[in-house]
Parts: sequence; C-alpha cells; structure tokens
Amino acid sequence: MATQDTQPNTNAPLANLEEWEDFLKERYPENGAVPAKPFQAIDPDKKKEQFRNYESTARPSVREFYRLNHHNQTFDFVQAKKKEFLSFSRREMSIWEALEYLNTLVDDSDPDTDLSQLEHLLQTAEQIRKDGHPRWFILTGLIHDLGKILCLFGEPQWAVVGDTFPVGCAYSDKIVFHNFFSDNPDSQNPAFQTRTGVYSGRCGLDNVNLSWGHDEYLYHIAKDYLPTEALYMIRYHSFYPAHREGEYKHLMNEQDEKMFDWVRAFNPYDLYTKNHEKPKVEQLRPFYEELIAEYFPAKLRW
Ligand SMILES: [Fe+2]
Ligand SMILES: [Fe+2]
Repeated sequence: MATQDTQPNTNAPLANLEEWEDFLKERYPENGAVPAKPFQAIDPDKKKEQFRNYESTARPSVREFYRLNHHNQTFDFVQAKKKEFLSFSRREMSIWEALEYLNTLVDDSDPDTDLSQLEHLLQTAEQIRKDGHPRWFILTGLIHDLGKILCLFGEPQWAVVGDTFPVGCAYSDKIVFHNFFSDNPDSQNPAFQTRTGVYSGRCGLDNVNLSWGHDEYLYHIAKDYLPTEALYMIRYHSFYPAHREGEYKHLMNEQDEKMFDWVRAFNPYDLYTKNHEKPKVEQLRPFYEELIAEYFPAKLRW
C-alpha cells in the first residue's frame, strides 16, 4: 500500500508565493492592532504574544517555509548567492520583458481568482498613481517584485521571498519564527551572535548583509537608474523586522533612518492593494512602457 506523503515538498513548501504575503497581512492587518479600549496604548508584551500566536496558527506550509529560510540563510550563503547572481550573466531583457517573464511563474494559484505576478505589480503601481505620487514612485510599484524571477532561475522559495534580516549579527527576537534560528549554523558562531556581530555600530545598512532574496537582487539591477528613495523601497521592502518592528536601528545611519520613511510609505501599497479586480494589462501597457523608458535603458542584464 502506498504511504501517503504528508511531508511538504522541501524545496517549495508554499503552494505559491502569495502564501507568504497572506501571512504578512495576517500579522500586519491593514488597520493595525486595535487596542482593547479606546485610547489605550498597545502593550508591547501583548504585541509579542500576538506575534507568537501567528506562529502557532500558521499553516504548516508557511511554518516549513520559515524553517527552511531561517535554517539556510547563513552569512556564507548570502555571500555565495551574491557572487552567483550579481554577475548578471543569465539573460538580457527589457523591464517589460522581465515582467512578462516573471508572469510565466507557474504555481498552485487559482487563475480565476488569484492575481498573476504582473497583475499584482500593476495594481500596486496603479494605486500609487491614483494617489498622485511622483512618477519614480509609480515605477517602483511596478517593478518592486521583479527579483522574484530568481524562482525561474531555479532558486527555492526560501531564497527568494520571506521577511529579510541581517546575517552576521544577533537575530532580533522580533523576527517571526525566531526559534528556527537555533538550527542555523551561524547561531553556533559567537562572532556572529553579538548585537553588532561583524559590523560596527551605525555603520549603515549598505554595509550590512541581509538574508538573500528578491529585494537585494533587484536593487543591484536598478541601482544606477532610480532615485535613492526608490532604491530603499526596493531593497528593504521585505525587511519587516526594521520597517515594521523598529529593530536594527543600531546598524542604521542617519540616511537609513530618513529613507525608511519612504520604505514605510511604500509598504501599504505592497501589502494592501490586492483586490480581485484585474487590471487591464494591454490598456495600461503604453503608459508603463513610456514610464520605464524614462528611467531605464532598452535592455538590462539579469
Ligand atoms: Fe516583494
Ligand atoms: Fe509585492
């Protein structure tokens, strides 16, 4: 008799990348944590307790995803991935071609109700546009998840998405599923486990290695073409321990602190603009092709 395989696929525990994003929305609901009584401050201990509750009620696939992420994202892993992917030797594509390429990502989402990657990006950009933000901000909304093409280069989910965190120094206990870090080999290395670890205080995030994923990859693609504010949004949009939990200030410099206002301004567009009204891609395409051409060359190396 065939035994039923109840173990999730270790390479792809999530049915689709949205499972991670849905979990983020559970943890950070749109209207924030509601205090028990009006005008009552949110008790930080209570917040921590709620955080743990999200862990205990998380789907097994999400739990497994974080287990793999926290186990495998070591300091050395991040260096190796930077070496592997920041030589941009895989493809030559325009931004629009990369968007279409990302859209070929096939996962277990429902094509009738779930948004494709391109639709999510267009919805994000369209909401930013409706709110009257500058053109570079709209463009940032359009491209912010393009780094997810790493999945199409064969990378596992845990090395593409997930809340990012610094490697080479102590893990903040505000990082979700913090307990899983005990399986990370870096947690046995005392040099990596002090508050600043291999870094120096207030050294600036540009000198800090974050766990590897779609944010860092796209930052390096875009860094010569977009304003600093946009690059912060791209590079740190998954750095929830910092932009939502206020952690790691001891590694940030003055510019980081200022620029994180933009990262926080971007976050609601990323998390909360998903709705089931599908944007009309072909209708929107001319506007976005023109916007892309304003900032980017015709072809980029990926
Ligand atoms: Fe993202
Ligand atoms: Fe996104």
